[in-house]
Amino acid sequence: MASNNPPNTSTRISPEDANLEAAIASVQAAMGDGPSPGLAVVAGSGLGGLAAIGRVRAELGFDAIPGLGTGAVEGHAGRWLLIEVGAARVFVLLGRRHLYEGISPRAAALAIRVLARLDVGRVVLTNAAGGLTRRLAPGDLMLVTDHINLMFANPLLGPNDERLGPRFPDMSRPYSPALCGLIREAARERGIPLKEGVYAAVSGPTYETRAEAAMLARLGAGAAGMSTVPEVLAARHAGLEVAAVSLITNTHADPRHGPTTHEEVLESARRSGDRLAELVRAVIERI
Ligand code: HPA
Repeated sequence: MASNNPPNTSTRISPEDANLEAAIASVQAAMGDGPSPGLAVVAGSGLGGLAAIGRVRAELGFDAIPGLGTGAVEGHAGRWLLIEVGAARVFVLLGRRHLYEGISPRAAALAIRVLARLDVGRVVLTNAAGGLTRRLAPGDLMLVTDHINLMFANPLLGPNDERLGPRFPDMSRPYSPALCGLIREAARERGIPLKEGVYAAVSGPTYETRAEAAMLARLGAGAAGMSTVPEVLAARHAGLEVAAVSLITNTHADPRHGPTTHEEVLESARRSGDRLAELVRAVIERI
């Protein structure tokens, strides 16, 4: 028998997708009038100092954004800021959601989809990561040139919403050469040493065994981390320009180094976070 009922969409629309419209509305309402900034910066673990790159004009806790709230981890404050840096305006997201919280990859990418829908065209993702080679020591900044997704998860799994992006997005060059070029120039101009490397994304929350760290290094990765890649995938799907910078907080390449701890990661990020904040400020000034 023919039915006039609308098709049952409950199997197609995930809770995260249902949250998207509400999340967009709450960010828009909190950020006030005026066009969206053209750039957003996501601050990783212990990198809350990025809030100090300019004057905070508006602010919203992640808990007030449907689908983004809770999941507080030490070092992740969870605040969405609108910041003025000179004449420029940027969104700074202090904190992010991680797969290790047990959330879906789509939920981990929700903030990026909000940015895309608000027409924020560029995003710079920052993170704390563990160095896998002697070339990348604690305190170093690493421009991410490419990634290896070992999370075995992808925010694009499931039905594709054509309004967001294509079913099969290219990933041959996820990191924008133009944006990476700006970051290299800004680092050179400010005299900030900037290394480069491949980011291996793992789900965590365990840090790597020695055998895993050795394997990741042999795969060509310079650093391992538990974030960023779901965001990059969602951002490229939506056509955003992306760059990422890792702050190396610990090393797996030195056999004399002791166990890795979250405290070490946060402490190291706080100690070297100022250089990353200075680099981000210099990038904003160039855009
Ligand atoms: N491994 C994975 N993620 C990390 C690390 C690490 O060594 N350090 C900071 N985040």
